[in-house]
Amino acid sequence: MISSSSDHPESCSDLPLREIPGDYGWPFFGPIKDRYDYFYNQGKDDFFKTRIQKYNSTVIRTNMPPGPFISSNPRVVAVLDSKSFTVLFDNTKVEKKNILDGTYMPSTAFFGGYRVCAFLDTAESNHHALKSFFLSFLASSHKKFIPYLRTSLSELFVSLENDISDKKSADFNDNSDNMAFDFVFRLVTGVNPSDTKLQSKGPGTVSTWLALQLAPLGTAGLKYVPNFIDDIIHTVRLPFFVIKSGYKKLYNAVYDSAASLLDEAEKSGINREEACHNLVFLAGFNAFGGMKVLFPSLIKWIASGGESLHNRLAEEIRTVVKEEGDITFSALEKMPLTKSVVYEALRIDPPVPFQYAKAKEDIVVESHDAAFQIKKGEVIFGYQPLATKDPKVFINPEEFVADRFVGEGEKLLQYVYWSNARETDAPTADNKQCPAKDLVVLCSRLMLVELFLRYDTFTAEVGTLALGTSIKITSFTKAT
Ligand code: HEM
Repeated sequence: MISSSSDHPESCSDLPLREIPGDYGWPFFGPIKDRYDYFYNQGKDDFFKTRIQKYNSTVIRTNMPPGPFISSNPRVVAVLDSKSFTVLFDNTKVEKKNILDGTYMPSTAFFGGYRVCAFLDTAESNHHALKSFFLSFLASSHKKFIPYLRTSLSELFVSLENDISDKKSADFNDNSDNMAFDFVFRLVTGVNPSDTKLQSKGPGTVSTWLALQLAPLGTAGLKYVPNFIDDIIHTVRLPFFVIKSGYKKLYNAVYDSAASLLDEAEKSGINREEACHNLVFLAGFNAFGGMKVLFPSLIKWIASGGESLHNRLAEEIRTVVKEEGDITFSALEKMPLTKSVVYEALRIDPPVPFQYAKAKEDIVVESHDAAFQIKKGEVIFGYQPLATKDPKVFINPEEFVADRFVGEGEKLLQYVYWSNARETDAPTADNKQCPAKDLVVLCSRLMLVELFLRYDTFTAEVGTLALGTSIKITSFTKAT
């Protein structure tokens, strides 16, 4: 399935050195024109695809939103193929300081005044300390993953079924957000959010807190709002005070309930308050924010496979669970189709589609057909959906191919980048890969296992939201 040019040889090759094509336009006006093209005139995918065609290159210069008046320098070098994209993972060549959201950083007021882990470069000592803390917390929670998830997922499906019988359809997003919040909060603190002062307000508070930080990167997407009004959200930073009291409640709930985890952080030399703001960010932004996008997207792609895919998944899942007698880590490993569809959803729709970094020195980046020099200090931007739908690596890249990663297809996993590294890499305290990479894959597999143990098939209506996909479940057919 892989063409020879997709092997991404790391060593210096004979590719011709080419000037990076593309231009930034006039100061101030160029970034605004690009912003309009990106959000309104062309849309994200076409914005990049038309430029790739125009310049006959997958490495190009462009401005990235938000631009004026939020980011002072919107100029980037965009890497838009599977091969050049990987420069973003090389911490010896690129710096990841304050660049999580791109060419601007929200006020640190959103994080209690601290630069939390995701905004730290690997060269900063705090990064090593915090990432080690997260990795050891995840490793020691390992045994809780499956039982906690099964409880949360079972509540999710009961609630969806109730909504369908009351209202004929069920809002998957709201129910999934509640499930994700409960699971993550319980994992981090050991208690149910409903047993704290937060009660059921957690998902709403976190969603507002996320929206205030991320507004400059999206559109409200409202049908009758003219573009120039919608564009205002790209010109001013939204203030923290709107969510200040909600954030404080969230922080206090974590501070009070996660005492033993915070003790661990202090033992390893991390300030208790800093550790707690980091845990709020990990639970709210990294975990809840990621799941908010991933789970509806997973259901969308599984729904698109229709009854025939559902039958195959149900057959595989029920056979393995019957043979193994229970749902265990090893049982989940014996489900090649279930594993493959999860990777395929992560490939075709990476939940975090943008990655940024800054060149630490003058570097040479290779696409499939040329080499390009990027100067020290230039910002590199990767639009991941094009990298993981690179036609030089994946056959029929725009198609959801359920068994793409089965058998020999597993070799393609090295080109799946959703976790900010190759799927074949492992997160460490010295890289920027998502520390919950395996947990996220586990959550997705378990969601499908629970779904197809309960139901033979289901139907859904799919729409779009500012942050991902909207799903309404319209029917479940109970397992026969
Ligand atoms: C569906 C869920 C998730 C997705 C899609 C996701 C994706 C990502 C991505 C793309 C990054 C790298 C961001 C960048 O530097 O550009 C990242 C980093 C991170 N993620 Fe996840 N993540 C998810 C869930 C989680 C969970 C459940 C946790 C913790 C329990 C977590 C903790 C983190 C942390 C702490 C970082 C920063 C790593 C570092 O600075 O080295 N994530 N995640």
